[in-house]
Amino acid sequence: MTATTNATVAAGTVSGGDAVITLDHVSVTFHERGRAIEAVKDVSLAVAEGEVYGIVGFSGAGKSTLVRTINLLERPTAGRVLIDGRDVTALKGGALRDLRKRIGFIFQGFNLIGNVTVGENIAFALKAGGWPKNGRKARIGELLRLVGLESKEDSYPSSLSGGQQQRVSIARALANKPEILLCDEATSALDLETTEEILALLKRINRELGITIVFITHQLDVAKTVFDHVAVMEHGRIVEQGATFDVFAEPAHDTTRALVERYLGVAVPPQLVPSLPAGTIVELRYKGDDALEPLISEVARAHDVTIDVLHANVEYFGAQAIGTLLVLVSGDDAPRAAALAALRARVYGYRELDRRALAAGTRDETESEA
Ligand SMILES: Nc1ncnc2c1ncn2[C@@H]1O[C@H](COP(=O)(O)OP(=O)(O)O)[C@@H](O)[C@H]1O
Ligand SMILES: [Mg+2]
Repeated sequence: MTATTNATVAAGTVSGGDAVITLDHVSVTFHERGRAIEAVKDVSLAVAEGEVYGIVGFSGAGKSTLVRTINLLERPTAGRVLIDGRDVTALKGGALRDLRKRIGFIFQGFNLIGNVTVGENIAFALKAGGWPKNGRKARIGELLRLVGLESKEDSYPSSLSGGQQQRVSIARALANKPEILLCDEATSALDLETTEEILALLKRINRELGITIVFITHQLDVAKTVFDHVAVMEHGRIVEQGATFDVFAEPAHDTTRALVERYLGVAVPPQLVPSLPAGTIVELRYKGDDALEPLISEVARAHDVTIDVLHANVEYFGAQAIGTLLVLVSGDDAPRAAALAALRARVYGYRELDRRALAAGTRDETESEA
């Protein structure tokens, strides 16, 4: 492995340098019944050693296809895949098997073999990875301890809960001591509590074993919990990326904004909208510890308008908070305009929302970012 680094590498920068995984202008095009499907279009990215690199996006964005190019389960139609700076795009046979040993993979569906025990599921992976026969038993015990399932070695997958099955598939993925773990919607089939347990386990694996993780999800609550770096995918392209907090706190792209909106779920119940007094409905975003209440009352007083708080929400991304406040500003036209301008100048996210869209339960708004 290359030296540890926390450097983030900008999109499109391809040095191979300290990145563990580098995708260099990777495209994947499928051909189906005479039709070309461009699942991944010219994606370049670099994953630094030891980070949790996340990819989010709606269904069909190309996330799974992209991540499958990293272990060459999907061959790029164009572009290169580099692992530790070495071009692996054309590897075959034994060299490809060796590469895959260094890259564990877990999925939403666990993919355990049903008619053999938990221990045997892991034994298959050890055998495939060339683990010495006399060391396998001990290694299975070690792996099951790591994932908290030491008592389940002789159980069959069907007797385990979804969370336990995912733990087994994590143990299996780690069997041959990979440097990289790819997770494709690994928590999407689990309930909330189990999801949190699996995320805690993956975070521990990342920190304690130093395994670099690439994690795909369409769930923003997962993304905000574990990702150091996030890339947002849409129609085969990465449309935005950066430190997770920055991307989610100040989405620059419509897709990111749509994901955040859906997640933050700040809304007025549509049936209440018609009964609201006349005025302008505004969504205000703020970061960290800024409390908006003093600002609200100050602006209301200074401009002689009424400002009602319709909805307030604070979400934590790591240790940092993003607050959202939905307010109704009412009063005469001129003071109302002055009050809105004053609010707009003091927050970092400002949007006037369209009443008809709110009443219809959609979030279409008259765009107006601060
Ligand atoms: N093996 C395949 N053959 C043909 N089309 C595929 C194949 N795999 C994925 N696709 C298509 O590629 C696009 C991206 O799919 P996918 O990578 O699974 O997206 P995501 O994981 O973001 O939901 C979709 O339009 C999907 O139908
Ligand atoms: Mg997918």
